[in-house]
Amino acid sequence: MSLFRTDLLQAGPPADISVPRKKNMMCLNESVLDPYQAIDEAFHQNMQEITLNRYFSQVTPELKRLLIEYVGHGIEGDNLLWGNGADDMLFACFLAVREDNDAFALSLAPSYFDYSTYSRAAGLGIKFMDFQPDFNFDENAYLKILNSDNCRLGILCNPNNPTGHLLSDDKILYILQNTKKPVLLDETYFEFSGKTFADRIKDFSHLLIVRSFSKSFSAAGLRFGYIISQAQNIEELRKVQTIFNTSIMVQTFVMTMLMNKELFLKHTKEAVALKQELYEEMCQIKALKVYPSHTNFVTFCANELSAALFEHLQHQDIAIRDVGAHPLLARCLRVSVGSREQNRYFVNTVKSFFNEQ
Ligand SMILES: Cc1ncc(COP(=O)(O)O)c(C=O)c1O
Repeated sequence: MSLFRTDLLQAGPPADISVPRKKNMMCLNESVLDPYQAIDEAFHQNMQEITLNRYFSQVTPELKRLLIEYVGHGIEGDNLLWGNGADDMLFACFLAVREDNDAFALSLAPSYFDYSTYSRAAGLGIKFMDFQPDFNFDENAYLKILNSDNCRLGILCNPNNPTGHLLSDDKILYILQNTKKPVLLDETYFEFSGKTFADRIKDFSHLLIVRSFSKSFSAAGLRFGYIISQAQNIEELRKVQTIFNTSIMVQTFVMTMLMNKELFLKHTKEAVALKQELYEEMCQIKALKVYPSHTNFVTFCANELSAALFEHLQHQDIAIRDVGAHPLLARCLRVSVGSREQNRYFVNTVKSFFNEQ
């Protein structure tokens, strides 16, 4: 008998998350704003109230109050569960719906790479249904798989990473209306698009919304994400979490960010404007096919020159992401919005690569 689960032994190694350290990190959809620099005094002030030698409960109610206020749409404290990033919340959902060896989740493709990493870690299979070439999808075909016996969860990423597009509200609604299976709506990038289904939590008892503090709130290294759902679902999901899952320092930091949320929302607005500028400038480059984006990144294709461009950018100290693994995005690359200077440097470097000054 082996020491570990047979499905783990059969699975390949986890995804390699090592990324090249370049001066211009435009590869992981991070923010250029360091939240610690932005709110360090207020954070230290709030930490005066905290003792790290004790198990905690004191910050939690205040953080909950601030998060309720931030999410809005009439949600209450028992509609929320938080953990170490959206990834941790995805993992909790996968663990909580897994039933037996034939159970699987369903995602559209291409979408967030790590849905498969975490579903497999949770012992839940995963199936993918491809988007159409225009990134539309057949909602009835999706429902057919979702409503099949062993499917335990539907995943919809909105806006979608790595395509950057928004799913149609009508399709999401139609899916919610025509299934009783849990539907996980990944709203990690929702602040950049302004579109959310948080107002529909009260209407759909099988809707689970996952969100992150890594993107709009600029805190990818901090690790904080949350789920919004009806209270009875939160109760079940809590059962797969460790009790003191999220460190009191992280909770205090998030609380401080929410006390200063205007700063982060202003930064998000600026990132959206910079992304639009970047998109428009990239559209001027004839050698590129550029996809519209409702996020903080732009996906594009340089056909047979994509690999050489990727290499060239690395040599010019710019790290971007190769997202070409799925045939629909064959030879596509993804650039995260940087500072105005970084975006200009990126565009100029791409232009000079193609001799399009
Ligand atoms: C669609 C999507 N969901 C979830 C995550 C994970 O976010 P977090 O950093 O909060 O774990 C990411 C990260 O890039 C993402 O793109």
